[in-house]
Amino acid sequence: MNSLMEQLGFNVPIMLAPLGGGPGSPALAAAISAAGGLGSVGSAYFTPEQIREAGAAVRAVTRQPFALNLFAPQPWPQVGAAALQAAQAELAGYHRELGLPAPQLPDVPELDFAAQFRAVLDVRPAALSFTFGVLGAAELTALKNAGILSIGTCGSLEEARELHSSGVDALCVQGREAGGHRGSWLHDARQSTLDLTRAVAAGLPSPVIAAGGLMDASDVRAALAAGAQLAACGTAFLLADEAGTSPPYRAALSSGGDTLFTQAFSGKWARGLANRLTREVRSPLPFPWQNALTRALRSSATQQGRSEYLSLWAGEGVNRITAGPAAQLLARLWPADPEPGASSPNG
Ligand SMILES: Cc1cc2nc3c(=O)[nH]c(=O)nc-3n(C[C@H](O)[C@H](O)[C@H](O)COP(=O)(O)O)c2cc1C
Repeated sequence: MNSLMEQLGFNVPIMLAPLGGGPGSPALAAAISAAGGLGSVGSAYFTPEQIREAGAAVRAVTRQPFALNLFAPQPWPQVGAAALQAAQAELAGYHRELGLPAPQLPDVPELDFAAQFRAVLDVRPAALSFTFGVLGAAELTALKNAGILSIGTCGSLEEARELHSSGVDALCVQGREAGGHRGSWLHDARQSTLDLTRAVAAGLPSPVIAAGGLMDASDVRAALAAGAQLAACGTAFLLADEAGTSPPYRAALSSGGDTLFTQAFSGKWARGLANRLTREVRSPLPFPWQNALTRALRSSATQQGRSEYLSLWAGEGVNRITAGPAAQLLARLWPADPEPGASSPNG
């Protein structure tokens, strides 16, 4: 038991890392929480209504604590006409191949942080994690008053310090091995998970959650030994039966391969399996515009089973991925009877 587990009331030192865009479904979060970990719904792209529904869906399965996740609010960058034209021209050929009309941008970004945040307060999960930046004092106070633990995501000691000074309750430390988007906002930080965990745990008093490349029980023990209270595992659960991972994405994950950092799909650096788009896209718009511009392509490719056009987010450990019920995958990461000498959760 450590302070986070005691405060929130769960007993396996593993958090399901938030997996937005479908995989981190309420069903997966509920299965992890019911099995003793901290489930987490990948709710950052959800509408306020979907956030409320997700909370109800988890609670229909379990009364155990769970977390929601949002993207910290950030300024939307301006996009010039020439950049837009170049990005559209680059995607036009793929649209033709899939029988889609030419790529178009929506008039306004679709994420409304304030409305999502109100929905989070209504749901009152045990914790709210966020990535891509810091929350304001008003939001952190609202979370505290609602009894919701705040977890900020950082990719460097400098970002950890900024989150700590802002008043967050816990720090999710994301190493370079991690699948999906880099949470960093100050710079393009790429330290390894264990090195960064050690540095943040030694340098700051906040509880630390380690994320990035943690795929088996020895990885989890190493993260705890480095000073983390919890290991946050994402890729390890992408093939869970309860995950919302689409069939072509599942097939690509099962085949494995090399991962790399790309901006091709969203405009933000993210780690995933290499495919045709990561090789060919050269002029992405900044986030969130490229994400909006590639949305039709990605959803049509999912329906048509064409993984060469999909963002195949995965961490460096993807070649050690296994499929099965979430509770079984969790038990592999934290066996009920840990080997003699295994480190116990810190705190
Ligand atoms: C498919 C996928 C989606 C992700 N979506 C989010 C997200 O919406 N919000 C977030 O904070 N992190 C997101 N991440 C990052 C994870 O929460 C976590 O940092 C990462 O999975 C840890 O590394 P691992 O995949 O090697 O376990 C995502 C990662 C993946 C693989």
